[in-house]
Amino acid sequence: MCLPRSQTTAEPHSITFRTVSRSTVRGSVRSCTHCGGHHVAAGPPLSSRSARCCHRRRALTYTAPDAAHGQVVAEQHECASCHGGRLVTSYPGLPSLAGQPPSYVRLQLAAFRAKLRPNEAMQKVTASLKDQDIADIAAYAAGLNPSPAWQADDALRAKGAAPFNAGDGKRNFIACVVCHGANGRGDDRLGGASITNLAPEYAGRVLHEFKDAPGFPVPYPDAMRVVLKDYTQADLDAVVAYISSMTP
Ligand code: HEC
Ligand code: HEC
Repeated sequence: MCLPRSQTTAEPHSITFRTVSRSTVRGSVRSCTHCGGHHVAAGPPLSSRSARCCHRRRALTYTAPDAAHGQVVAEQHECASCHGGRLVTSYPGLPSLAGQPPSYVRLQLAAFRAKLRPNEAMQKVTASLKDQDIADIAAYAAGLNPSPAWQADDALRAKGAAPFNAGDGKRNFIACVVCHGANGRGDDRLGGASITNLAPEYAGRVLHEFKDAPGFPVPYPDAMRVVLKDYTQADLDAVVAYISSMTP
């Protein structure tokens, strides 16, 4: 079979960031003068590109992902020191990467590298990654066994199961499985994150970011902001208990 030497792989979604002004974002992220508030890039921060229209899509360029090389790159950069051996974390405040759909990991790494998703450690570690490294790491992480369940309060957990699986028509809650897939295992085609057994403190923190910080600069802040609009703290606690302990 003849494979192209290099293939530009369009991500299943464009990487879109809303105009934000937030202290955790390094530099100023400003809107493109041509596209009125959004920009699409997996490149340098918008502040250095704002004179040009930034609506041109920059896909990652890579040949067929090589999980074995991804493991080598992950070891070189000591990803396991924070994300755990075989990328299963033991810190409740840090996400595991094992079992994540590759498209989600590629998208997030591109976002950190572009200094758009805030986090100093991640922006630093991704700065030197090439597109191929990103695709290879994503393939490596996807092939590992996901995190086991965390401990959670049974009653709280039971309360979180309903919105997760079925939503709640009366309260305008969309079922999480619609976008995060059966058992929360994510959806590679849509770039949906796996949230199965997500580290509980990290889950609580990221859900607050989505809900309380309009324009939280991840690639798709709006989906989760809309989902969580009418969630109370008690609802959040219940859903975090559920997603962090999905396979008892
Ligand atoms: C010094 C600690 C540290 C190191 C080393 C580190 N990370 Fe991270 N990583 C973090 C933190 C903290 C977060 C969560 C950021 C947040 O809260 O938004 C994170 C988040 C991520 C995410 C997003 C996960 C999600 O569920 O959205 C990915 C993907 C990731 N890291 C990949 C890597 C890879 C690959 C490496 C090695 C090349 C690496 N990290 C090295 C600390 C680290
Ligand atoms: C309409 C689609 C949609 C629905 C419904 C939805 N999500 Fe999400 N969710 C997303 C998208 C898109 C992202 C990724 C945002 C980004 O990083 O760009 C996300 C990200 C997340 C993350 C962060 C994952 C990580 O590893 O950092 C968590 C946690 C999460 N969702 C939990 C939930 C929960 C709990 C529900 C149900 C209450 C839910 N989601 C319902 C679309 C959805």
